Amino acid sequence: MRGTEGFSGADVMGEEVTLASLLERVKALAQGVESARLQTASEAEAFRVRYLGQRRGLVTHLFKQIPALPPGERRTAGIALNGLRQKAKERLEAARKVAQQQRTAASGEAPIDLTLPGRRQRELGSVHPLTQALRTITSIFEGIGFSIAEGPEIEDDWHNFTALNFGEDHPARDMQDTLFLEASESGEGGIMLRTHTSPVQIRSMLAGQVPFRLIAPGRVYRNESITYKSYCLFHQVEGLVVDEGITMADLKHILYTFARAFFGSGVRLRFRPSYFPFTEPSAELDVWWDLPSGGRWMEILGSGMVHPNVLEAVSIDSERYTGYAFGMGIERPAMLLYGIDDIRILYENDVRFLSQF
Ligand code: PHE
Repeated sequence: MRGTEGFSGADVMGEEVTLASLLERVKALAQGVESARLQTASEAEAFRVRYLGQRRGLVTHLFKQIPALPPGERRTAGIALNGLRQKAKERLEAARKVAQQQRTAASGEAPIDLTLPGRRQRELGSVHPLTQALRTITSIFEGIGFSIAEGPEIEDDWHNFTALNFGEDHPARDMQDTLFLEASESGEGGIMLRTHTSPVQIRSMLAGQVPFRLIAPGRVYRNESITYKSYCLFHQVEGLVVDEGITMADLKHILYTFARAFFGSGVRLRFRPSYFPFTEPSAELDVWWDLPSGGRWMEILGSGMVHPNVLEAVSIDSERYTGYAFGMGIERPAMLLYGIDDIRILYENDVRFLSQF
């Protein structure tokens, strides 16, 4: 019942309410709010019901008494009550946070703040050492005017051997060295994984017109037993230059230019006579590799002047045109450059190895 006389009144429950009694009550409740034990979620919930509950909350109840006060005192009462309610809300909020943290700690999860940047370190990929070496080699040759050609990894006998002037019973045609997909009795006409990138010489010359100045990088396959220094597949970069007046001096100049660009200008090189069916004369290029034990020569490529029979096989006039060719492995120079001592690791895709590059 609402008080109507004088400056005193009665609240809805029929108690006498004065400003002094209300402020007394605020003070008492403030102490309760201050000292309440709020360590668990259920304690926090009990606190909320006790003080801030919509129906029976003690603070809510006091708010309902304000209209029973004389108008001039309501403001003072309101301020005191708002302060009390604020304090109760703050304690409740803090208690809820603590309870939440306990829950996540107990479940072993970190609390989630969606506004924070991700903490997980992204794995950065890197370029495989073979690809790095291949790109370096390719860009050196592109820089001196070579274009890039490609050919299939599955080859036939004619492109891989016959057109390259391999004799009918050359040992390379043997099952022991070549991975045949379809062998033929005669040796001619078989299908195989190419054993070198040299068939790309043939395909390029058949497809284009003299002059040629190209490199052909790619995978090649051999029936090798797998050891720290040999594998059943590896990479080569083939080179081919055909034009009028090409000589061995051009070959040597290009190879030395390349080797200095790749290994450094101080590299020691050795040009050594050799034999390939598809070049005449032929030579191999060795690089001196310093080792703690003294160092040694390392063969990095085969090369030579394109054999006239090869030019004739692709209908190029070998009286008018000459050319040189070379073929280098990628694995060996890459291993030298990066200090890798076992070729197999290049193909194992072990992230611990790859992430070092
Ligand atoms: N094809 C040869 C090999 O695989 C390398 C080579 C290429 C030699 C071109 C001379 C000319 O060993």
